[in-house]
Amino acid sequence: MALKKHEGKTVMYTAMGSEWRPFGHPRKRRPINSVVLDQGVSERILRDCKEFISNPTWYMDRGIPYRRGYLLHGPPGCGKSSYITALAGELEFGICVLNLSERGLTDDRLNHLLSMAPVQSIILLEDIDAAFVSREDTPVQKAAYEGLNRVTFSGLLNCLDGVASTEARIVFMTTNYLERLDPALIRPGRVDLKEYIGWCSPYQIEQMYLRFYKNGNARTEALEFAKRVMSFNKNISPAQIQGYFMFHKQATPKDVIENTKLLWEL
Ligand SMILES: Nc1ncnc2c1ncn2[C@@H]1O[C@H](COP(=O)(O)OP(=O)(O)OP(=O)(O)O)[C@@H](O)[C@H]1O
Ligand SMILES: [Mg+2]
Repeated sequence: MALKKHEGKTVMYTAMGSEWRPFGHPRKRRPINSVVLDQGVSERILRDCKEFISNPTWYMDRGIPYRRGYLLHGPPGCGKSSYITALAGELEFGICVLNLSERGLTDDRLNHLLSMAPVQSIILLEDIDAAFVSREDTPVQKAAYEGLNRVTFSGLLNCLDGVASTEARIVFMTTNYLERLDPALIRPGRVDLKEYIGWCSPYQIEQMYLRFYKNGNARTEALEFAKRVMSFNKNISPAQIQGYFMFHKQATPKDVIENTKLLWEL
């Protein structure tokens, strides 16, 4: 399937039955630096992707499948999905999104979808831990789970290994639970680059402040705000910070800085 060209837009595909369908209208690209990751993380991922895309012959010459796997892991609301979507835009790729916890997604369907994905698109497999049955589960729970037509672990491995093409194939996977994944899934060749996308660092809080508030004193305020948030010694996600800023769209900097304890209450 050929990718339709949409200037400055990202085409998002979702799985309908065994095919990929463009989902909604092509979206205006989200600038990649609007997803604020910790220092260096975005640069590492972007550099790796660009190098991969620009080196097909390196893979062909060595008989190595021309694909690259990425795993972003970490707590909810820290930017995994948003970053991958913005990255697709930056690379001028489409994005094919599949949630592995979706009911009715069998190994066969997954295999078919992966082999049919439009060229020049990132394949995004969300919640890959869904293909795992916890070792603590009872046999009864396991049987119930397997009856749900879910993707199995060995099915997922086979599908990933089968993803090969003369076009660059980029597969991103996400999970909130790295510790639940089997080492076989994250070995090189299946996952070539792993990054932890975690709770906000002071740097991220400052950067987010600066993206939201553009007044003259923003730099000093951003530092003050970050210091204040960190003083609570509690984890905070970028999604929570975003929610808080939206709630304080019209507020004075003083209020934004002084109301920080509300961050955990919204
Ligand atoms: N690092 C970030 N920079 C800017 N905005 C962010 C960031 N992380 C999250 N957000 C905002 O928070 C919301 C949720 O983010 P997103 O869905 O990307 O999180 P996630 O890590 O994929 O979470 P989950 O593990 O639950 O899937 C989005 O609206 C996004 O704009
Ligand atoms: Mg997500």
